[in-house]
Amino acid sequence: MSVEHKVAVLVGSLRKESINRKLAHAFIELAPAELQLSIVEIGDLPLYNQDLDDTPPAPWTRFRDEIAQARGVLFITPEYNRSVPGVLKNAIDIGSRPYGHSVWNGKPGAVITASPGGIGGFGANHHLRQSLVFLNVPAMQQPEAYLGHADQLLDAQGKVSSEGNRKFLTSIIEAFAHWVDIHHY
Ligand code: FNR
Repeated sequence: MSVEHKVAVLVGSLRKESINRKLAHAFIELAPAELQLSIVEIGDLPLYNQDLDDTPPAPWTRFRDEIAQARGVLFITPEYNRSVPGVLKNAIDIGSRPYGHSVWNGKPGAVITASPGGIGGFGANHHLRQSLVFLNVPAMQQPEAYLGHADQLLDAQGKVSSEGNRKFLTSIIEAFAHWVDIHHY
């Protein structure tokens, strides 16, 4: 990959000690230099209400602009009750409107789900992919990234805990860099 690509990272957890946020930082560190990953914050977005789009709240406009400027999107999220956390779904809905002006359209994406549990957020991962089909976000197929026992992937300092884990996470982000590179819209 020779061209630089700016990629928006959306984290589906708002808590300070979020495993998913720590993993997002780990991926930012492991990504090839050409893939410029930065977290786009979603915690301040008022709940989507179509009435508000007559005069969109400032955080919606800030969010839509940040996504519009990105070449791709990377979702890193926990699973809540076998589905997508509401805060992330809210961000997706805000980006999809007003009708005909979705900021997601055609941006290559990937979904990484992480959980301390064994299933690694499989349910959330595929519910999110269902929305991405409608939003015309080509989502990376392989490698699938259901990160089970994810609390063990990082050490107390938030660093990847072993060389094997480092290789595993690097393989995911390198595949995504290639995915972004080959998708032109
Ligand atoms: C969870 N958790 C969870 N885990 C899982 O593997 N499948 C699930 O369906 C759920 N459901 C769920 C619902 C709600 C409301 C909460 C708060 C938590 C546990 C979850 O994986 C765990 O709390 C993670 O640590 C959350 O991710 P962060 O915040 O560490 O990134």
